[in-house]
Amino acid sequence: MELYKLMTVVILASLLTCCHTKRNFHIECLDTEDCADTHCCLLGGFRYSIPRCAQLGDVGAICRPSGEPFNTTVSYPDGEGDVNLRNVYWLYCSCQDGLYCDRQSHTCQKEK
Ligand SMILES: *[C@@H]1O[C@H](CO)[C@@H](O)[C@H](O)[C@H]1NC(C)=O
Repeated sequence: MELYKLMTVVILASLLTCCHTKRNFHIECLDTEDCADTHCCLLGGFRYSIPRCAQLGDVGAICRPSGEPFNTTVSYPDGEGDVNLRNVYWLYCSCQDGLYCDRQSHTCQKEK
């Protein structure tokens, strides 16, 4: 019982932190070009996910075989209007140079 109460408190606390920090949020990238060479601009799977730079997939990293970069427009509850994103990836970056995304395992593998 105590554990459940504790979990409830933790969950509530994280929800509050989540939504509070959305004020004055910082957008790390609007385009994959804004990130370092070995990174891509990545959009997460949650509503109001904020794009961030993430590393390109190394061997064995999860990837999406059809994960092409795309252009999109997002908006945030506390943001000022729409944010135009270009050349961003969804959920996972593409694989590093010389690697490809294997359709069976959905992981980055060395090109043969
Ligand atoms: C995204 O927009 C740029 C120009 O704003 C265009 O060159 C590019 O082809 C677009 N990419 C996609 C995937 O539509």
